[in-house]
Amino acid sequence: MSLNTPFPIDVVVMAAGKGTRMKSRLPKVLQRLAGVPLVQHVINTAAQLNARSAVVITGHGAEQVEPVLLAPGQALAVQCVRQEPQLGTGHAVQQAVPALADDGVVVILSGDVPLTQADTLQALIAQCGGDKLALLTIDFADPTGYGRIVRSAQGQGQSDAVQAIVEHKDASDAQRQISEVYSGIMAVPAQWLKRWLGRIDNQNAQGEYYLTDVVKLAVADGVPVVAHKIDDALQVAGINSPVQLAELERAHQLRQAHRLMTQGVRLQDPARFDLRGQLDCAQDVEIDVNCVFEGRVALGEGVRIGANCVIANCTIAAGAVIHPFTHIDGEKLGVSVGEGALIGPFARLRPGAQLGAEVHIGNFVEVKNSTMAQGAKANHLAYLGDATVGERVNYGAGSITANYDGANKHRTVIEADVHIGSNCVLVAPVTIGAGGTVGGGSTITKSTEPGALSVARGKQISIANWARPQKKPKP
Ligand code: UD1
Ligand code: MG
Repeated sequence: MSLNTPFPIDVVVMAAGKGTRMKSRLPKVLQRLAGVPLVQHVINTAAQLNARSAVVITGHGAEQVEPVLLAPGQALAVQCVRQEPQLGTGHAVQQAVPALADDGVVVILSGDVPLTQADTLQALIAQCGGDKLALLTIDFADPTGYGRIVRSAQGQGQSDAVQAIVEHKDASDAQRQISEVYSGIMAVPAQWLKRWLGRIDNQNAQGEYYLTDVVKLAVADGVPVVAHKIDDALQVAGINSPVQLAELERAHQLRQAHRLMTQGVRLQDPARFDLRGQLDCAQDVEIDVNCVFEGRVALGEGVRIGANCVIANCTIAAGAVIHPFTHIDGEKLGVSVGEGALIGPFARLRPGAQLGAEVHIGNFVEVKNSTMAQGAKANHLAYLGDATVGERVNYGAGSITANYDGANKHRTVIEADVHIGSNCVLVAPVTIGAGGTVGGGSTITKSTEPGALSVARGKQISIANWARPQKKPKP
């Protein structure tokens, strides 16, 4: 039930079209913008309208599109209705009629128009008011290809009543001069919509059932038609080709970058910034060029991110520095980086890495499902998996936890103040007692006592004055 309108909202999303110009095996509405399928953007926006129901019209690639829409955890309960064959937008919406109640306002959206904002749709719904036909329109300098908004005889003033939408291919030369176009988005009382859909024919240039013909039917029935005109072209931009997809991606990224900069985030170059999820930044965050943020990322005060980092599902506390070329992906478990930590360059933090304050992770170090307490360091060429690392531990270059025995994973515990030398193998399950030292090159298979030096490698022998073999003289 809609919370802020006196009538329920039902959403219909048209997503049956082929998308020939994408030249892709993936249906057009599943192509990704900012990492999210186009149709999912539309569903996410619909969810913000507190819609009572959502019907998606599928057709081309339905067997790929429907599982995405019906996946658990979907933002809004979605019903899929197939349209086969595709005989036009009017025919598409007709397929939804059995699923639509009579008492609602139907908001019609397109699965390939991803960036419409919820507040724009709220304003459109308000214009509809439960008893009018409301069209979302925009002025285009080049309106070629779009349906034109034809207003009453006087001219094209905003106050002149909307008479019809005429598709480009059906328009006269005079009508083609009209710059106001239909966005493809409308809000319409369900009862009227159902009545009009039954009366649409396909006597037009394309031989299709045009949804846009409801406008003249509304006029004939004396139902007021109102246009809600916006000037933000991104909100009505549809995707038909890889070029348009890339252009909209850039425009969207630039908009996100500007929003962050308005909040005080310092982006080295807003044109080289990609956010495919949600990024929350405290004060004085600095982000260098070519970074990609995915999923949910939170950056604390004064965090600095070096160039060319990919950071997903991660919380980074105040004052931490992520040096260039670091890859962090928390996936479902998440990653946390403590205050003042120094990470990278060329570090890799995987799911379940929980790093305390002042931890240092250097180049070519991988950390997975491990906690590192305050001040612990692993500065070069190392692996920590399924490990619990105490405060101030120094973990030497080239050392690894052997956490996997081929069947199961086991934990390594390294207690506080331990020093692990270079090139050690800690075969889990194993515990290195507090304050202990492990000599370089050791393979440790048994737990060690606190304070002990443990060395597990061939003992060094030296043979004095040893003569190397000589080449035999040629005969
Ligand atoms: C439509 C409008 C036009 C408007 C333009 C805005 C009509 C007749 N015209 O034109 O006034 O200016 O959008 O972009 O509506 N679809 C189906 N089944 C079909 C046909 C289309 O599901 O049988 C879907 C498409 O996948 C797409 C949407 O409906 O998501 C719009 O269809 P499209 O063919 O792009 O309509 P346009 O010709 O662009
Ligand atoms: Mg189109």
